Order: sequence, then structure tokens, then C-alpha cells
Amino acid sequence: MIYPIYLYGHPVLRKKCEPVVAEQEGDIKQLVADMFETMYNSEGVGLAAPQIGKPIRLVVVDGDVLSEKFPECKDLKLTIINPRLEVITDEDPVVREEGCLSLPGMAENVKRHEHIKLEWLDENMQPQSGEFRGFASRIIQHELDHLEGEVYTDHVSPIRKQLIKSKLTNIQKGKVKCDYKVKSAAK
Ligand code: NI
Repeated sequence: MIYPIYLYGHPVLRKKCEPVVAEQEGDIKQLVADMFETMYNSEGVGLAAPQIGKPIRLVVVDGDVLSEKFPECKDLKLTIINPRLEVITDEDPVVREEGCLSLPGMAENVKRHEHIKLEWLDENMQPQSGEFRGFASRIIQHELDHLEGEVYTDHVSPIRKQLIKSKLTNIQKGKVKCDYKVKSAAK
């Protein structure tokens, strides 16, 4: 099932998300399948549960489509539940452009950590851990921000924020053009 993607301005994107608990396990597998379907349908490389209106700590990622430009994204397909992120400070932060399915038609430069360690539960609620670098690390940090009620435009400079203000307002009002189904705060 393809869910509509909630747009910037919707209050669910500002919620601090709740951990997934063991009792939800049965429902999670279908939800994960639906989230991958929704993400592929909108040609995204990551999707967080609040983006489909569910404020729980669940994220799906598939960065493989970017692997030509970013080899570290090869076979990067993950279901991330209840993550715990640790920054490894052996490399300087990197500024790169990123976008978000909740902010169609926009892309901004964001500074992110280059190297992270992550612990999480997979779709079977089994503990996993791994280290990620480069754009793989960026995708994960972007999606984990959603679980804290943050979006990437929160990270842009105040001056830049002023320049993109009208774009953000249009998205809040649901005035967007995109090829996938969306749900705005306005309706
Ligand atoms: Ni996003």
C-alpha cells in the first residue's frame, strides 16, 4: 500500500517519535513493506515513519540507486527501528546538497557528520550494528532527524532560511507539484 507523504508544515513532522515496542512487531512488517513501496514510488532513498503520519521510531533506507556517485551507498538497504546513533569524530563534517520527500522541489546544502556508528533493530526486531560513512551516513542522519521532529531545512543558515521562506510557506499551504500523493497541513 502506498501512503501519501506528509508535507513540511504538518504537525506530525514536528513530533518526537515514540520507540517501537515488542507488541507492535506483527504490524511492523506490513508497515515496513508499505514504507519501502511508498519510498520507491516517490523515488526517495529514505523514508521515516512520521512522513506517513506515524510518529514512531522507524525508518527505511535504500541508497543503492546512488551507488554510482556514492559507492558507499551500494546495497545500502536497511530497516531501522529504535536507532541509537554515535558520531565518530575522526573526519571533518561535510557539506552536501540534500532533499526530502516532505519538501518537494527543494534541495539545500547541509553540514553532516561523515562517520557514524549505529545500533538498531531490524524488521524482525533483531539487534544490528554498523558503521556508515559519506552519503550513506548522511541519509541515515537525515532520516533519524525526522524521528526527533526535525527536517533538514532546520540546519540551513538563518540567511539562507530567509531566502527559502516563500518556498517553505508554499509547501505548508500544499502548493506543490510532485508525482506522488501528498498530505499537507492545509487539508
Ligand atoms: Ni526527509
